[in-house]
Amino acid sequence: MKVYHKKAELSGYLNEHLKGAKELGLVPTMGALHKGHLSLIETALKNNDIVVVSIFVNPTQFDNQDDLTKYPRTLKTDIDLLKSLNSDAIIIYAPAVEDVYGEDINAETFSFDGLEFEMEGAFRKGHFDGVGTIVKRLFEIVKPSNAYFGEKDFQQLQIIKKLVALHQLPVKVIGCSIYRSDDGLALSSRNARLTKAHREIAPFIYKTLKSAKSMFGTKSAKQVTEWVEKQFKKQPLLELEYFTIADVLTLKPIKRKSTKKTYRGFIAVYAGDIRLIDNIALN
Ligand code: PAF
Repeated sequence: MKVYHKKAELSGYLNEHLKGAKELGLVPTMGALHKGHLSLIETALKNNDIVVVSIFVNPTQFDNQDDLTKYPRTLKTDIDLLKSLNSDAIIIYAPAVEDVYGEDINAETFSFDGLEFEMEGAFRKGHFDGVGTIVKRLFEIVKPSNAYFGEKDFQQLQIIKKLVALHQLPVKVIGCSIYRSDDGLALSSRNARLTKAHREIAPFIYKTLKSAKSMFGTKSAKQVTEWVEKQFKKQPLLELEYFTIADVLTLKPIKRKSTKKTYRGFIAVYAGDIRLIDNIALN
């Protein structure tokens, strides 16, 4: 399996192997790969001749230095996992910070039509500027025809679609459904850092989202929200940061339910000092 640490070498390889009208897929990741990532890569492999998997813990999207320091870095295991997919089409790009940022490790400032101020944007200052910066750079370096992102980070997905539209980037952004473990917990690289007790209780998040979905058919958004908040108050091991029912296009909190709009319930929860997010389609 080819692993490139330098963008110039990656570009050299791609220029040589992408002659003709071949489809190039990109799956951007921060490593600590799990089955959720593998499902994105498998989708990408079905529709592309070459799939670049980038593994890069992007410093500019962390608003919390401690979270950045503790973010799992498991390149060797990640490479082994990708090898197990047995595909010559996969190319790994695992750069050092300098290869992407040079000397200037700062995010650009973006406007995403207000999507960046809601939910994660309100609680993680500068996060989406960091995400926008790295994703735009990866698009410039790799020049993919298709790029794959998980719906667990639904707000991120909508923001990346907006980035592509506003900057007219020649790439198709594809959202892939959330991959869950058997007990319902959405897979995340952060799950590995949960204590045993927190891991055991964490499926409560999705269980509550599913109940919220069934209530949303008959109850108002306010009633559903209050009910969710009450459930978490009874749960000493989990601390609810927010539960918001929002329009999928604007990500603005719902005012009055409309049958013409599509809504999702979005949640962020602390399990100890690990922050978990999830979401569910409501209608
Ligand atoms: O979703 C992630 O893992 C990251 O935000 C991404 C898209 C790889 C950018 O660093």
